[in-house]
Amino acid sequence: MSTLPYILGIESSCDDTSAAVICGTKILSNVIAGQKVHAEYGGVVPELASRAHQQNMIPVVDTALKRAGISQEEISAIAYTNGPGLLGSLLVGSSFAKGMALSLNCPLIVVDHLQAHVLANFLDTEENKPKPEFPFLCLTVSGGHTQLLMVHNYFKMEILGRTIDDAAGEAFDKAAKMLGLSYPGGPVIDKLAQLGNPKRFSFSIAKLSGLDFSFSGLKTSFLYFVRDQLKENPNFIAENLNDLAASMQFHIIKSLTDKMEKALKTYKCTNFALSGGVAANSELRKRMMELADKYNLRVTIPPLALTTDNAAMIACYGYFKYLQKEYSDLSVAPYSSILKLL
Ligand code: KG4
Ligand code: ZN
Repeated sequence: MSTLPYILGIESSCDDTSAAVICGTKILSNVIAGQKVHAEYGGVVPELASRAHQQNMIPVVDTALKRAGISQEEISAIAYTNGPGLLGSLLVGSSFAKGMALSLNCPLIVVDHLQAHVLANFLDTEENKPKPEFPFLCLTVSGGHTQLLMVHNYFKMEILGRTIDDAAGEAFDKAAKMLGLSYPGGPVIDKLAQLGNPKRFSFSIAKLSGLDFSFSGLKTSFLYFVRDQLKENPNFIAENLNDLAASMQFHIIKSLTDKMEKALKTYKCTNFALSGGVAANSELRKRMMELADKYNLRVTIPPLALTTDNAAMIACYGYFKYLQKEYSDLSVAPYSSILKLL
């Protein structure tokens, strides 16, 4: 048995039910059950997500413990996502975590999902990559949020910029939907874009001053363009799919990297990081590494499996709170919106 604590993480904020066990910052297991039930709707249906979480939770936690090779009694603390996310989904994870902590008489730790995405960068990797050093800039890009942060320590994250409308992941997902592609659209566009010409079509990008983002105008520009082209040629999408994916991806990534570069010029720090589901995007990862080279800075990007929603990142945040004995009681209620913690 390790002298470091074993933290069980539970994630249920959207459409992935996940449980993980970490020891210190080493991942012992990280089990993720996706929910295929949403595929035919082209997006997450909240009520179906809650029901699927209820079905998945016990087997997922059970598997996470088995894979980690520890018993329930060895768990030092249970960390769970308390928000932001879909309220019904959060309630399933929080009720389960509370019940389990009560029955095991172990500490309970609430975790902010977005901050946990950032802390995914502190989990041990197979390649033993160096971890970020405080303070650092972090671009968090997920399906529901887009933020540029100054990360002062594990818990103090200052928002320097955020989207004023859609999130970057949402822009990927909505563009994919317009092209008749499956949900979630980000990975599909990423794959198609590798075979397409990113300069073929151009769309309008929002020019906001400061470090805020906007993707709603880009989405509308893409929608009108595709709609107009389809009037001329009903096969337009099929004939130009790779170029459409590559061009749309180019614009989304450009919006993100332009702001990241602006932040790097404005705020002095030795390193920066990327986090959230869109951090899985191959083009964004490449561009971030180019920025690091250009400014002679170090960049940390989580391994692919730790970019999209997972419980290891929840457990990681829990671990740092555990070290500070920051426990919660059973009265804490989940929250759906971003405003609460950050
Ligand atoms: O962080 P995440 O798993 O869930 C939220 O907290 O929202 O992010 C999911 C988002 C989806 O919008 C999905 O399309 C996007 O991340 N995503 C990607 C890629 N993989 C996932 N977007 C672009 N390229 C990818 N390879
Ligand atoms: Zn997420």
